[in-house]
Amino acid sequence: MKEFNDVEKVIDETVQGAATMIAQEEGKNQNGKKLYLESYGCQMNFSDSEIVASILSENGFTTTRDSSSADVILMNTCSIRENAEQRVRNKLSQYQKRKKEKPSLVIGILGCMAERLKKDLLEQEKLVDLVAGPDAYRDLPKLIQEVESGQKAVNVLLSREETYADISPVRLGKGGIAAFISIMRGCDNMCSFCVVPFTRGRERSRDPKSIVQEAQELFDQGYREVTLLGQNVDSYKWNITKKGEIIDPSEPVVNFAQLMEMVAQVNPLLRIRFSTSHPKDMTDDVLHTMAKYENLCKYIHLPVQSGNTDVLKRMNRGYSREWYMNRIEAIKRIMPDCAISTDIIAGFCGETEEEHQDTLSLMKEVGYEFAYMFYYSERPKTLAERKFEDDIPLETKKRRLTEIQAVQAELSHAANSKMLGEKCTILVEGTSKRSDDEVFGRNSQNVVVIVPKNNLKPGDYADVIITDCTTATLRGELIQTEEA
Ligand code: SAH
Ligand code: SF4
Ligand code: F3S
Repeated sequence: MKEFNDVEKVIDETVQGAATMIAQEEGKNQNGKKLYLESYGCQMNFSDSEIVASILSENGFTTTRDSSSADVILMNTCSIRENAEQRVRNKLSQYQKRKKEKPSLVIGILGCMAERLKKDLLEQEKLVDLVAGPDAYRDLPKLIQEVESGQKAVNVLLSREETYADISPVRLGKGGIAAFISIMRGCDNMCSFCVVPFTRGRERSRDPKSIVQEAQELFDQGYREVTLLGQNVDSYKWNITKKGEIIDPSEPVVNFAQLMEMVAQVNPLLRIRFSTSHPKDMTDDVLHTMAKYENLCKYIHLPVQSGNTDVLKRMNRGYSREWYMNRIEAIKRIMPDCAISTDIIAGFCGETEEEHQDTLSLMKEVGYEFAYMFYYSERPKTLAERKFEDDIPLETKKRRLTEIQAVQAELSHAANSKMLGEKCTILVEGTSKRSDDEVFGRNSQNVVVIVPKNNLKPGDYADVIITDCTTATLRGELIQTEEA
């Protein structure tokens, strides 16, 4: 699918590629059953798959990379755009064919599509045997048993409390250097185009102690980078209600800036990233904390969606173009070396040519290093579906998207060219795909740099000077190395 962005693809491949890792892990009480886990969607879904793998490996399952040898196939799915769902339906139909040859095969759907469609995929479309929503993963061993005993298995209850804080995720990512840590679940924002509040439920934050502990454990295992995940990390709050009432006076109140500081102090050699920030909630406090600690990476993903205030109003984003630009100015003032990326939707309901031009002009004004760009896809039950007509013809949506992509290509190229001759520190993640004599890593700004291997290994920090830039890649030479 063309519209799937890179993150979605990478995550899909990573989960599949890493599944063998768990298969190789000696399970304590193996039940002889093999699980094939496939993931779509955002980083949160990927992080959830690690929780699912953990719950099921504790219950005796081993994981396999080969879906044809699986006893249980679970698809962790995404509903964000229509074609994300279509892709999963196609895959499920293929697996159904396999079930004809192997009737004992259990096929289950997890994640946002499971939550959105509830029993439909089981009863009407007959594509799956098991349905588990994002807050029901502890129930999976029981649900699988139910299917095996010939029953229908569905749990799509959303929770106000579940954060899986006590579950130690099985790390599925390759490399053992970078990992995700979920710090909150759900979303209370109700952006009019977005299905997430319906599929993920109410916003809730996870105990900061368990977050810091997880970061420490990862560091001790050799990890050197963590990404703190939430749909709106800026509204992270612990021990305080939305109305500002303190819950337990004997415990500290923790906001996102304070949480970042706590994680930054785990070790100066542990890099911290986070996603996603929301322009309406991002405070200067967060920016000052980022500036204070070198290991808080100088990179912010700040989705704008549109450059026009009226469109933003229809999107129910809670900020204007001016407010957004004020946040960008604050980032540039407090951290001049910070890279900024964004998400953009082309052709939202009622978008005029002038409003579209405002998006292009905002992009140039900000000078994004990177952007994920989509055309609008109407989602059932959302505010936009109920209130506005999806009136921009597909051709126009696609044309506007192409124009947005063209502007971004220029901006990304300009950002890369500016780095020629600059010095930066990269965290080495692995060997370059093209050559064993080269390694790659990312700098604080999240840009991938390829350098000659020397004696560098994953987990090392290396000071490099950028010597060459093509559209997609930067190359550098080593200045000096530090052991991680
Ligand atoms: N919580 C994040 C976004 C999560 S969804 C935030 O608020 O920024 C990731 C991106 O998908 C969104 O930023 C938006 O650009 C895009 N998206 C969401 N719903 C969409 C829809 N109905 N059609 C097209 N793109 C959509
Ligand atoms: Fe969706 Fe808006 Fe929540 Fe992001 S903040 S997940 S776009 S409702
Ligand atoms: Fe998709 Fe659900 Fe994430 S809809 S983007 S998998 S929260």
